[in-house]
Amino acid sequence: MAIKSTETQWGGMAKLLHWLMALAIIGNGIFGLIMVEMPRGMGKLNAFALHKSIGLTVLALLLLRVSWRWFDRKPRDEPMPRWQSLAAHLTHGVLYLFMLALPLSGWIMNSLHGYPLQFFKLFNLPALAEKNEDLSELAETAHETLFWVLLLVVIAHAGAALVHHLFERDNTLLRMLPFARLRQRKSGDSP
Ligand code: HEM
Ligand code: HEM
Repeated sequence: MAIKSTETQWGGMAKLLHWLMALAIIGNGIFGLIMVEMPRGMGKLNAFALHKSIGLTVLALLLLRVSWRWFDRKPRDEPMPRWQSLAAHLTHGVLYLFMLALPLSGWIMNSLHGYPLQFFKLFNLPALAEKNEDLSELAETAHETLFWVLLLVVIAHAGAALVHHLFERDNTLLRMLPFARLRQRKSGDSP
């Protein structure tokens, strides 16, 4: 598998970043919902620290992904009506915004609470805002709401990919999957 994307296929790097980040974001969201229900104690503190470190990793991977996306080429869209390709591009843009807003809102909320922030016990990171208990409640609601809205957008995004795969029978999903072989277009199909 080539590391760079081609005219018809996403490259290895784009695929790796896509699936690694999808797993980290959804996994960390579910972990976040579980950890807030844990009884107070060392276990909860460790869970919070791990959640924050995974979230910061997502932020770092986003920087790498955006830089790579700028350097890499982008495969041309599979044949589809113009409204569908516009909707897909809009959804991708919205997903990028969420990938930034979710960890950043967590970082801001953490700062407003006055909690410390460490990256996997390796080094400390600065607060992004001064401690403020009133605003921290608002930031907490924003952080959680962002996750639920992201989940809805991801369901629409994954649903659209599955519809293309099962009903349009094109390569939209296959070209993002690792090690999948692309379907050959029949000569009568539109370009
Ligand atoms: C992929 C990134 C992230 C996702 C998907 C995510 C998602 C979530 C979710 C769903 C919750 C549970 C909300 C609730 O039920 O109250 C939560 C809680 C929390 N998150 Fe994140 N989060 C991410 C990144 C971060 C980061 C980077 C930080 C801090 C630097 C952070 C700090 C927190 C804290 C402190 C809580 C607990 C809030 C409370 O005390 O109720 N999160 N997160
Ligand atoms: C948190 C979860 C997810 C996020 C944030 C996300 C984000 C994105 C983004 C931004 C793109 C545009 C390509 C790029 O710039 O890398 C993309 C492409 C794609 N995603 Fe996701 N995605 C997620 C989950 C999923 C899931 C669960 C599926 C399962 C079907 C999926 C299937 C695809 C496919 C097939 C493409 C390629 C579309 C094309 O070539 O036009 N994604 N995704």
